[in-house]
Amino acid sequence: MSEPRRVALISGAGRGIGAATARELGRRGYHVVVNYRENSVAAQGVVSDIEEAGGSAEARQADVCDGEQVRDLVRHVYAAHDRIDVLICNANTVNPPFEPLLSLSWDAFIGKVSGELAGAFFLTQNVVPAMQKRGAGRIVYISSTAADWVGSVAAHSTAKAALNTFSRHVAATAAQHGITVNTVAFATVQTDATAGVLNDELRKYTEERSVLGRVLDANDAARTVAAVADESFGAAVGQIIRVDSGYDVLDQQLHATTKFFQ
Ligand SMILES: NC(=O)c1ccc[n+]([C@@H]2O[C@H](COP(=O)([O-])OP(=O)(O)OC[C@H]3O[C@@H](n4cnc5c(N)ncnc54)[C@H](OP(=O)(O)O)[C@@H]3O)[C@@H](O)[C@H]2O)c1
Repeated sequence: MSEPRRVALISGAGRGIGAATARELGRRGYHVVVNYRENSVAAQGVVSDIEEAGGSAEARQADVCDGEQVRDLVRHVYAAHDRIDVLICNANTVNPPFEPLLSLSWDAFIGKVSGELAGAFFLTQNVVPAMQKRGAGRIVYISSTAADWVGSVAAHSTAKAALNTFSRHVAATAAQHGITVNTVAFATVQTDATAGVLNDELRKYTEERSVLGRVLDANDAARTVAAVADESFGAAVGQIIRVDSGYDVLDQQLHATTKFFQ
């Protein structure tokens, strides 16, 4: 008898990094549950791409910031497939507000922080108990190198730093049950979320600080997320894995003060 397909649930998989990750995991033989909030056409398009490539997938609407909707989503997946092997908490629940810190409203600030954490929190609380019973599972949270920034995008930075810490709490709770939990923190990736900010100046600046000579795209990101989600990645647990195509080291190398300490 052939092994049942492994099942991956990806939040916010209708577009961007989530969609590319869904296609990548579909290629790797997973049945992919493509979660989305509103854009059913985009999500259905991802399902069709996976099926046309010989894979298996389904689209499932749920607002991952709503605890009841997440409970229903996860119940559906277990009722239909009896397993979730991989959970990827990816949904871009709230676009970052770009106001400077001192003029940022409390609502905009806490809206970003709470939206970021809600999706991760509800999915985690609904999926981990069943993974614990099976004694297996892999969870990947999608974070940002913005978690380490200071002086700009304060709400986004605070939200992603909180997500990083949250993911390490989950890793600590789940590790003794055979579940591996890691976080991938990306630098700028070309998606709908960055279309409005990635102007020519920022693009050039980023390209100069990329070992690839270009801004990361969703497929670059997806290959990394799929690798970390797969058992073949090994026993890394509780890690925040930075994927920035060299931005951090190249930025320091290009920075003026480096000239004094060659
Ligand atoms: N792009 C970057 O530069 C970058 C860099 C570092 C980290 N990240 C992180 O990577 C993740 C994905 O970002 P992206 O750029 O790929 O975003 P995106 O292109 O804006 O796509 C967002 C996806 O999330 C879904 N979504 C939004 N709110 C949701 C909710 N409440 N419930 C369920 N699904 C929801 C959207 O569904 P609909 O299609 O239905 O609207 C869409 O499929 C985010 O966590 C983001 O912070 C992005």
